Amino acid sequence: MSYEIPEPYVWDDSFRTTYDNIDTEHKAIFVCIFNCAKDPKSAALITKLYDVTADHFTDEEGMMVKAKYEDVTNHKQIHKDFLAKIKSLKAPLDDASLAWAKQWLVGHIKGIDFKYKGKL
Ligand code: FEO
Repeated sequence: MSYEIPEPYVWDDSFRTTYDNIDTEHKAIFVCIFNCAKDPKSAALITKLYDVTADHFTDEEGMMVKAKYEDVTNHKQIHKDFLAKIKSLKAPLDDASLAWAKQWLVGHIKGIDFKYKGKL
C-alpha cells in the first residue's frame, strides 16, 4: 500500500500513534530526513538520521516487549533492515535514496507502527 508523502516533509496528525513519546520521536526522524533533503552533501546529517532512528527503535521495541506485543519479532527485523540500509548510505545522497527514506518512514508508521495502536 502506498501513502501520500507530505511536502514539505513534516509530521502531521495523520501520523499520530496515540503514544506521545513515540510521536515525538517520529517527528524527530521526519526532521532528520527533511534536513538530509535540504543538505544532501552532509555526511553528519546521515549519521544523525541513523542515531535518532536507532534510539527511536530501541524505545519502541522496549515498549513492544514490555507489552508482549505479538508482532515484535517481525517488527524488530523491519527496523534492523532499515538501519542497515541507512548505514549503507553515503553523502551526497541522491534523489532516489531521499525518496526511499521519505517513503519508508511514512509507510512504516502508517502500515506497521499503526498495528500496535491500543496494544502498548
Ligand atoms: Fe516507529 Fe517501528 O518505528
